[in-house]
Amino acid sequence: MIYYKLIIAFIFTIFMVDVSMAQSMAQSNEKLIIAHRGASGYLPEHTLPAKAMAYEMGADYIEQDVVMTKDDKLVVLHDHYLDRVTDVQEKFANRKREDGRYYAIDFTLAEIKSMKVSERYRFNDAGEKIAVFPGRYPLNGSDFSVPTLEEEIELIQGLNKSTGRDVGIYTEVKSAAFHLSEGKDLSKAVLMVFKKYGYLTKQDKAYYQTFEIEDLIRVHNELLPELNIDIKLIQLMGGDEYYKEMITQAGIKKLATYADGIGPSLGMITASDDGGETYQLTDLVKNAHAAGMDVHPYTFRKEKFATPKFVDSFEELLDLFLNKIGVDGVFTDFPDLAVQFRDAK
Ligand code: G3P
Ligand code: CA
Repeated sequence: MIYYKLIIAFIFTIFMVDVSMAQSMAQSNEKLIIAHRGASGYLPEHTLPAKAMAYEMGADYIEQDVVMTKDDKLVVLHDHYLDRVTDVQEKFANRKREDGRYYAIDFTLAEIKSMKVSERYRFNDAGEKIAVFPGRYPLNGSDFSVPTLEEEIELIQGLNKSTGRDVGIYTEVKSAAFHLSEGKDLSKAVLMVFKKYGYLTKQDKAYYQTFEIEDLIRVHNELLPELNIDIKLIQLMGGDEYYKEMITQAGIKKLATYADGIGPSLGMITASDDGGETYQLTDLVKNAHAAGMDVHPYTFRKEKFATPKFVDSFEELLDLFLNKIGVDGVFTDFPDLAVQFRDAK
């Protein structure tokens, strides 16, 4: 009888372990939908309304690009310039540098808060503002401002409390070397905010991402030990010479000793030599997975002009990368469509 009970207990234990492993694998196999600059397909990028909308659309993570102000405050802006998403030219005409650009680092937080944020624009030959994505939110509509990193984290954590969900932050430090050259340690300041808001371990829902190779090495080797935290690190990469060594099989193995994943451009995975009519699958995803790293490519957009020609639709693009190639997550301007696509399986 005792022998019989032991067998039952053994089978039960195996069953529970199997269930637990299956649940754990299901969680780790879930493809992440990362709201690129928020729900930026619908509202001006990096504004709090765009982040709240992305949250409501079901994004798993919401992205912040971060730069520093003259008075050492962290603000959420795509890059260290103000002159493609704000009205800085109208308000501070004489504050541009010799290259004609307006640098966030030359303005206090109060000055930046006095600017209005609009949908991203460029200038045409006549010097007029033209929307980069003409089908999106109108230029200069309503009243949007530049948020601080802390305001954005408080929004996300506040929604996590009120909804019971657990949406993460996916924070990119922009131009760390430039900030250091200006006497500002942006990377350390961002990590201190992570620590302040409870993002301490790799189990917490936060990623640190950067395009700069030296920055990620410094974060891993110096800053995380100094601050006594250990969060997930992502090496962003583009298709230029700077990453040539890193994307070899040996380079990827070395990267995996300090990074948890990579964030490549789409073209680094689906290379094309005929203007995007066709593509060749590179070894990047295979090598990254073999080295134990996740792959979160950017940027998935539904506009035809922003989609590779070798697919006919946004859904086909998602299917190719999420299901056929098997990446682990996507940065997208349209988190609603990506969540719907993923969850319809
Ligand atoms: O950080 C991933 C993706 O956002 C990189 O591109 O230029 O939009 O920051 P970018
Ligand atoms: Ca980014």
